[in-house]
Amino acid sequence: MSETACLTIDGKVHKYPVITGTEGEKGIDIRSLRSDSGYITYDDGYANTGSCMSRITFIDGETGILRHRGYAIEELAAGSDFIEVAYLIIYGELPNRDQIASFRNLILGNAAIHQSMFHSFAGFPASSHPMAILSAMLNSLGCYYPHMATNNREQDLEHLDDAATILISKVRALAAMAYRMKLGRPFIYPRGQLSYCSNLLHMMFSEPYADYTASSRVDRALNLVLLLHADHEQNCSTSTVRMVASGGANLFASVSAGVCALWGPAHGGANMAVIEMLESIHKEGDDGTRFVEAAKSGDRSKRLMGFGHRVYKHYDPRAQILKEASKKVFASMRLQDPVLDIALKLEEIASHDEYFITRKLYPNVDFYSGIIMRSIGIPIDFFTVLFAIGRMPGWIANWKEIATGKSSIHRPRQIYTGSTLRKFVPLEERL
Ligand code: ACO
Repeated sequence: MSETACLTIDGKVHKYPVITGTEGEKGIDIRSLRSDSGYITYDDGYANTGSCMSRITFIDGETGILRHRGYAIEELAAGSDFIEVAYLIIYGELPNRDQIASFRNLILGNAAIHQSMFHSFAGFPASSHPMAILSAMLNSLGCYYPHMATNNREQDLEHLDDAATILISKVRALAAMAYRMKLGRPFIYPRGQLSYCSNLLHMMFSEPYADYTASSRVDRALNLVLLLHADHEQNCSTSTVRMVASGGANLFASVSAGVCALWGPAHGGANMAVIEMLESIHKEGDDGTRFVEAAKSGDRSKRLMGFGHRVYKHYDPRAQILKEASKKVFASMRLQDPVLDIALKLEEIASHDEYFITRKLYPNVDFYSGIIMRSIGIPIDFFTVLFAIGRMPGWIANWKEIATGKSSIHRPRQIYTGSTLRKFVPLEERL
């Protein structure tokens, strides 16, 4: 028998169906609440609101589970790579040999950027934040494919496979070009024989007179970072992409908005903030003890960055994988970085501290990802850019769900708390 939830308002009982997901999680379908009763639900920050039904990613934040299309993140991280996971997330199934070969070829075939776009980079001052450049350039990219960016749902969907590979490929080139432009260095063209990650590093770090060649170890480490960021259900940037898509906007415009949402320090920008925090702890000669004490003050600006998560009340499984990976990368490169030692120490202190234990604050994906990116030579202001490259498959898959689904425009309600009706006072009569 189907389950029902009852809500009593002013003595009247209203009944709402209970929806059960495939992993057993439950929600109350309150869509008719307002028409039934005149009431809306209030849930600041949507902390307890299911904004959609989705088939892409499952998270159990209480036990630290993350799965894409039913596959455990630990298995994907151990046995797959970023491009294969991108395919899985977008198309719902692991690709066979032919499918993955064709997907990789399409990505490679789209690696270069239209020559006219080169001029757009000249319009940014060198001091520009790369996330601002990336967002603007992704939106502009749609102008080069007007038949794929029409805001006509059927037409945009008809070209979705091409648009998806264009975005996965070109977001990487645009990121590398932003890096080169900021340094005043010439743009470097992609190479046919290089893997996705090695090509990114080549486009960033090669010079016309000297090739940068990524070792297989570095290629694997970057692959892991991107793979672990590929999707994470209804986070701030993905919800933004869905919100923009719900108004009928094309994929290019929607992911461009996703980049802006990702930029903030409470979301993707946290990976930059973590390294800044670790470096300042190191500079001040603290072993982390003083910083952890200050982080307990309740002052938002003193928070332990890379700790805590809206959904995980358990160790973030991505952080666990990256923690082990960063130790391996450092050992294999024979690197010594005090920042990794401080991170491990901070985690050790926090894991025994009542404040962090009772609030269930554990390291999140950003805590160790920056340490790996730093060891590869990625500059700190490009950490969030790399997060955006990694998150592109998730944004595309979520855009696709909106475009192929039946949901109407996303338009939350509010509880108004401003002034009630007031009489307009002409300027000359105002005090
Ligand atoms: N350091 C110290 N205290 C913290 C931290 C932290 N990093 N995170 C949360 N708290 C405390 C809060 O002060 C609050 O304490 P109180 O109950 O005494 O008031 C309690 O824990 C709950 O905090 P909220 O802000 O309500 O938790 P919320 O779920 O809204 O926030 C968030 C999650 C934004 C990630 C938060 O933990 C945070 O700011 N972390 C640091 C930034 C960060 O790492 N962001 C990356 C998130 S992962 C991602 O986007 C990829």
